[in-house]
Amino acid sequence: MIIIDTIQALQKTLAEKRQQGKSVGFVPTMGNLHQGHLSLVDTAKKQADLVVVSIFVNPTQFGPNEDFDSYPRTFEEDCEKLDQQEVDIVFAPSIEEVYPGFKTDKTKPSLTSVHVAELGKSHCGASRPGHFDGVTTIVSKLFNMVRPDIAVFGQKDYQQLAIIRRMVQDLNIPVDIIGAPILREDNGLAMSSRNGYLSQAEKDQAAGIHRVLQWAKEQLESHKLSFDDVEQSAVKQLTEQGFRVDYFNIANAETLQVAETSDTNLVILAAVFLGKVRLIDNITLTI
Ligand code: PAF
Repeated sequence: MIIIDTIQALQKTLAEKRQQGKSVGFVPTMGNLHQGHLSLVDTAKKQADLVVVSIFVNPTQFGPNEDFDSYPRTFEEDCEKLDQQEVDIVFAPSIEEVYPGFKTDKTKPSLTSVHVAELGKSHCGASRPGHFDGVTTIVSKLFNMVRPDIAVFGQKDYQQLAIIRRMVQDLNIPVDIIGAPILREDNGLAMSSRNGYLSQAEKDQAAGIHRVLQWAKEQLESHKLSFDDVEQSAVKQLTEQGFRVDYFNIANAETLQVAETSDTNLVILAAVFLGKVRLIDNITLTI
């Protein structure tokens, strides 16, 4: 496994590999890797000859009061895990390498940003203004640096995946986007770097999010309750379990708009706070 920290060195190495006829798979991450990330790597390995994993905590996708400074940085452990997973290249650039403008203006390191309208308005986009613009900007920058044939993203960040698919389609970026299933702890809690902020007792409590999502899915599948009733009851259940609910929304699985009764492919998206930790999860269903 090679660790590379400059764009120039990355592109030189990848040009050589491409000349040997190798296809490139890409898994972008912010580090603090867990089993969920490693499953994305596995998916990429099945689809491409060599795999690049980027580790970059992207400042532009964090809001002013979010956890950019305290976001766990575990570079050594991450590299060990990726080495065991037989990743070919770890790309770990500095902030200045990615955003040369960061030196002069931390608040506006890039004058250009990529904005995907509509899909980014609701759900996490409503609670985290600017977040998805930060994500789409960094992901398009990383795509230009790596120029992968395929890129793998987790379905846990359902809205992010939908936005990236749309960006790639709208901007004709020549990469196949692959969505990989959510990996869960034995208790059902979706794996996430932010679970590292939780105590064991809080992790057990946080498993309630998945249970409520499953309950909601069952209600919709059996047509027992209306969409509104399911949402309201789910919020009540989560609140009673000690969460502060950011949103619990039943949406059209493709457009992410509020679900209509005529929709058949649905996604239930949830974001809750447990103390200061914001956790997201989702479940899809066809009715
Ligand atoms: O999902 C993430 O970890 C990040 O949003 C991503 C895609 C690596 C962009 O910084």
